[in-house]
Amino acid sequence: MSLADRVHHPAFLQRVMSAEAAAALIPAGANVGMSGFTGAGYPKALPQAIAAHAKAEHAAGKPYKINVWTGASTAAECDGAMAEAHALGQRLPFNTDPIARKAINAGEIDFIDMHLSHVAQHAWFGFLGPMHVAVIEVLGITADGLLIPSTAVGNNKTWLEIADKVILEVNTKPSARMEGMHDVYYGTAIPPRRVPINMTHADDRIGQPYLRVDPAKVMAVVETHKGDRDNVFATPDENSNKIASYIIDFLDHEMKAGRLPKEMLPIQSGVGNVANAVLAGLLHGPFDNLLGFTEVLQDGMLDLLRAGKMSRASATAISLSKSAYEDFEKNIDFYRERIILRPQEISNHPELVRRLGIIAMNSMIEADIYGNINSTHLMGTGMMNGIGGSGDFARNGYLSFFVTPSVAKDGAISCIVPMVSHVDHTEHDTQIIVTEQGLADLRGLSPKQRAQVVIDRCAHPDYRPLLQDYFDRARHQGALHTPHILTEALSWHQRFVDTGSMRPGA
Ligand code: COA
Repeated sequence: MSLADRVHHPAFLQRVMSAEAAAALIPAGANVGMSGFTGAGYPKALPQAIAAHAKAEHAAGKPYKINVWTGASTAAECDGAMAEAHALGQRLPFNTDPIARKAINAGEIDFIDMHLSHVAQHAWFGFLGPMHVAVIEVLGITADGLLIPSTAVGNNKTWLEIADKVILEVNTKPSARMEGMHDVYYGTAIPPRRVPINMTHADDRIGQPYLRVDPAKVMAVVETHKGDRDNVFATPDENSNKIASYIIDFLDHEMKAGRLPKEMLPIQSGVGNVANAVLAGLLHGPFDNLLGFTEVLQDGMLDLLRAGKMSRASATAISLSKSAYEDFEKNIDFYRERIILRPQEISNHPELVRRLGIIAMNSMIEADIYGNINSTHLMGTGMMNGIGGSGDFARNGYLSFFVTPSVAKDGAISCIVPMVSHVDHTEHDTQIIVTEQGLADLRGLSPKQRAQVVIDRCAHPDYRPLLQDYFDRARHQGALHTPHILTEALSWHQRFVDTGSMRPGA
């Protein structure tokens, strides 16, 4: 498959050049919007050429850094390559690359951790500054000059609209038969002229299958032939299976109690191994005709579609392991009927999450006994990945679950703590906390009631007495609405830094 098979508009063929030549067109200090969402659909050639260009500039004594905005995370050959070349000044809104994470936590990269539904509109509002260049991966260009989106739509629509200049990477590796799977909505406007988004079912199509670009803005077209990163998922372990079974039993119970409709509500599943395991649990659960309304479609959701347990899934990206991706390509006609890929401002839109009644399930780093959630920071200061879309779904979902194993680092750290070291989701956004120990349903409970349920149901037995002791002593000191002993709550994590364990005396 060559570029001529994928690019059917002559104006674009005239701009074909090497990645190196295209990278040289991006000046130092530029704000660059790149495609890419959870390791899918990111540019493969340009970032490496930018990294090489940065290294050459640095060797010549010239500073070279650019600011990179994406949909979400990319991969080693994108974030990793640019971070390794010290080419990243500012980065937003999400990152999972270990080299970039190290540079963020070393203070070298200014990382801005944002709700994923906010990114496009904040760019539109001008809050982030101008976008000088957009670098977007596409699968092809039609004879009418329309762009066939890749494995992720992310913020590409917005980047193509607001960027001064555009570089297109045409990736000839993924199957062009994905054409028709995407649903790009062009109806978003800036307040006060916004109109309701006309979607009442998770599988409604409200847009068009193509991205648009003004050909006059396209300064380069670069060919690539490379697949997305291989998203490796751990086989669900005993703890993940327990978490999954508690959630499924709970949903079953809610349905029988009449608090969930019989046809079940659409499901959002967060990133990570535990989230993927919950989907694996649904494969053998009692629910049929499930709908997915999520931001990223991982292996677990593909399994549900293939097994016929889920009828359709709406997302902004497909982020799969190598073997799942092979199955996706092999059975692309089947999946095209069942998968809808949308811009992330739609896949994560609070208006839609609320209207459609999404069941939100997200992983976390830690929860406190009152239900505040830390999704992003290790020990309160080190950035892990970012908040991603968890806040878009958690606050607006019909039900909102947060899940984690009860301990981390072989039991040295309790994931249930007196006070989270960083707050991403407040107790107002958390309804249900689940660990392998059990499920705490916090709906309709006061802070003190919540604390007791979380300690009883979710804490690991090694830490339960410590948390109970903290809570009992806090209740005998000071204010009784949300009892805390602040000096102790704040030093809980310091204990790990000092001794390597949160157990006192360890
Ligand atoms: N303290 C310190 N480290 C902790 C910890 C804690 N309380 N809890 C987990 N960790 C560490 C683990 O030990 C592991 O470290 P390692 O990589 O060195 O092995 C790492 O964090 C990941 O933990 P794991 O249990 O494998 O979690 P996961 O793969 O399920 O991911 C999150 C969990 C929270 C990191 C991930 O879900 C995330 O980034 N969430 C935020 C974004 C989000 O929710 N997006 C979804 C919206 S659709």
